[in-house]
Amino acid sequence: MERLQKVMAHAGVASRRASEKLIKEGRVKVNGSVVKEMGINVKKTDLIEVDSIPIVQEQKYYFLLNKPRGVISSADDPKGRKTVVDLLSGVEQRIYPVGRLDYDTTGVIILTNDGELTNQLTHPKYGVEKTYIAKVTGLIDKKAVSRLEKGVVIDGYKTRPAKARIMDVDAKKNTSLVELVIHEGKNHQVKKMLKSVGFPVEKLNRDKYGFLTAEGLQSGEWRELKQFEVNKLKQLVEEA
Ligand code: URA
Repeated sequence: MERLQKVMAHAGVASRRASEKLIKEGRVKVNGSVVKEMGINVKKTDLIEVDSIPIVQEQKYYFLLNKPRGVISSADDPKGRKTVVDLLSGVEQRIYPVGRLDYDTTGVIILTNDGELTNQLTHPKYGVEKTYIAKVTGLIDKKAVSRLEKGVVIDGYKTRPAKARIMDVDAKKNTSLVELVIHEGKNHQVKKMLKSVGFPVEKLNRDKYGFLTAEGLQSGEWRELKQFEVNKLKQLVEEA
């Protein structure tokens, strides 16, 4: 159930405030009856009419893409580079990525036309957990891990507590693999955090977005989210 004015706004009738005005003016009907009081809840199946014209509630779509390198995570690119949206061939709805991954970062990214969920998932207040695996130059040690966990200063901002774990150290190649779990999504955050402790990132993959992984998807492949996964994502932001 959702508030009538919110459903109207989502259907593109008018802003929430302008929708409230339409309701007060007696121009809105729910299942054939004029509704003038504010704040009533409606179901997806309710027939809502404005000036006796039914509004169509936009159906929401949710996808998970295993983003390859060399693809930009926006809906359009002025430079004409390939975007994550271009990879979802056959999907006709206008969808947008939830947050961003760098051009050279791989891994889990969600795309949807649900603007409200996108705003919630990307809002710092909700802080959905994101798990990254980074290949870095250098042999990372516990001291660096502890600094990453406590928070480091990047661009004059102290990062919030994170979880970090050394997965592998390769002395021959002078590289390490680190898992970093963060709740924020500042620009280039993982690369900047690791650089600030002396370990520049060579490769970065987002292994998990909340509970979602790219399991079963090759690089560049995508799938529609299952209803229970969408519900769980919504629950994550409601609980936050
Ligand atoms: N942090 C980064 O530095 N890059 C990404 O793409 C995502 C998180």
